[in-house]
Amino acid sequence: MRQLQKWHANLSDLKTASITSRLASLGSNRWAVHFESRRRMKAGEDIVELTIGEPDIPTPTHLLDVANESMRTGRTRYAGGKGEPNLLAAVAQKYSTRTGRTITPNQVLAFPGTQAALTITMLSLVEAGDAVLVPDPYYATYEGVVQGAGAEFIPVPMSAENGFHLTPEQLEAAITPNAKVLMLNSPHNPTGAVLSAKEVAAIGDVCERHNLWIVSDEVYEPLIYKGDFASPFDMEAFAERTIAMASISKSHAAPGFRSGWAVGPNWVMDEIQHVSEAILFGGQPFIADMTAHALSHPDGTSAEMAENYRSRISLLMEAFASSNLVPLEPSAGMFMLIDVSNSGLSGEDFAMKLLDHGVSVMPGSSFGSQCAKFIRLSLTVDNDKLKTASQRIITFANSI
Ligand SMILES: Cc1ncc(COP(=O)(O)O)c(C=O)c1O
Repeated sequence: MRQLQKWHANLSDLKTASITSRLASLGSNRWAVHFESRRRMKAGEDIVELTIGEPDIPTPTHLLDVANESMRTGRTRYAGGKGEPNLLAAVAQKYSTRTGRTITPNQVLAFPGTQAALTITMLSLVEAGDAVLVPDPYYATYEGVVQGAGAEFIPVPMSAENGFHLTPEQLEAAITPNAKVLMLNSPHNPTGAVLSAKEVAAIGDVCERHNLWIVSDEVYEPLIYKGDFASPFDMEAFAERTIAMASISKSHAAPGFRSGWAVGPNWVMDEIQHVSEAILFGGQPFIADMTAHALSHPDGTSAEMAENYRSRISLLMEAFASSNLVPLEPSAGMFMLIDVSNSGLSGEDFAMKLLDHGVSVMPGSSFGSQCAKFIRLSLTVDNDKLKTASQRIITFANSI
């Protein structure tokens, strides 16, 4: 009996590490509207869901065929720690073409998606005592990426007035002595902003002056409607301090395959590999084959999605033109922000109340404090549904 009591006492002393509580407080609040919407839809309510953004076309058949064939021919064994040689070569080729420099397979690491690339890269670059600069608004998982590594998260306020384009002055003003990394995301989620080469160069200059790493999340590179893609990795002056990452999730409508990569200076990719191997112990060879094929056989998938999103942006811009809600026209990506401040409600209250009127959207506050007067709409439903959603949103706004 005494032995049993002792065991129970011991069990109540078992504790997890602080990383679990640091990350727990970041998730659920952000997605409260989405989860409530899912609950109501399950109960039979008619809601147009515009919260999350998943490509609404299927993964191209030719890629499924490659993965299938590859599995059947035995490509289901352990993969190398860096990634499969054919995938590393295909990624290196993509970036050699893009940058005009020779990028070698040694500069590439394969990851199960951009998210894992971000997290493992951050774990490899920073720790407690370091700080990471994150332009605000930001993609919802970034806070977890930084805090998971134990570093300080420093939001760099951007401004709606210039379409949420990060300026060198805004960056400079936020830099602290312990700042070590800038997380750059262009094309940007949730704003759809695309930084020009001139803007990227000016930001890169600040990073050079303060000796910062640049972690460049480029997952929306193929979905640009206005402006041209620019990356600090493509500029020789910043290539040695930049780790760029992307995936086939958005470009090839294949988020469930969890296939991405990071590319950067050889020596640092070698060091990140130690962390990556401890966590992943390699990837899936049949998915590597499919991804290598996707990169080396360009198809019309991105162009088809871009065309769909472009036409949905026009539809929404037209629909909201005669309302008191102010859309921010995105230059890229699969989302649109709408300023709802004329309704008198915060983005969060607007989004929660809008559920009663049959539409679910993300509150801007899920993406940082600079976005609190906005809601974010996903462009990944067809035009009819989007028309219904915009009419419901406008009717609701008029009723307030
Ligand atoms: C800005 C941004 N980065 C990363 C991701 C995650 O991408 P992946 O599916 O490649 O992990 C997303 C997904 O929505 C995103 O919007």
